[in-house]
Amino acid sequence: MTAQVHAHTPNGLTIWLTGLSGAGKSTLAALLTDRLREQGQAVEWLDGDELRRSLGRGLGFSREDRFENIRRAVYIAGLLNRHGVITVVSVISPYADMRSYARQELPGFVEVYVDCPLPVCEVRDVKGLYAKARTGEIPCFTGISDPYEAPADPELKLHTAERTPEQCMEKLISWLTEHRLYQ
Ligand code: PPS
Repeated sequence: MTAQVHAHTPNGLTIWLTGLSGAGKSTLAALLTDRLREQGQAVEWLDGDELRRSLGRGLGFSREDRFENIRRAVYIAGLLNRHGVITVVSVISPYADMRSYARQELPGFVEVYVDCPLPVCEVRDVKGLYAKARTGEIPCFTGISDPYEAPADPELKLHTAERTPEQCMEKLISWLTEHRLYQ
């Protein structure tokens, strides 16, 4: 019997999807995770909403709490990476210093900016949160009443308003393959 060959990622690989709420991070992360699994890779997906429901209970959306949320995601990603598991992280991670922290801690860090103009995210308003943010019912909402510092130099930028989620996923897979980040 042949053992399944998993990712050869000596430095680990974390694909970090950052972007506004509703930009399409989770949709892309789901497609990417499925594709990597189909390819026989060991992969885990850490999503902001899910992390907050599990490890991040009690954390809010102040700068400090967001940073704490990211710190926890980085910690788990590091553990997974150490065991050869490719990790897909989809979190807003709105501050540049949070993402620098993740880059510093995770040797195989790939920053992907899931770029979608705020007005498009707001029209989509998948979860109805933007409407509540506009009335002030939800305070400190990223893009409305809280900052989003767009990545200055991400490894990859994907325009989800102009491309389908599948096209974005294919572009990301091609980029990872071209850069030989996993086998
Ligand atoms: S962060 O900033 O990285 O810690 O945020 P994250 O863990 O990704 O959580 C974002 C999801 O929380 C919901 N939500 C808010 N987002 C931004 N600002 C405020 N105030 C807020 N309140 C709740 C929202 O559903 C985000 O999910 P996504 O998938 O990004 O839409």
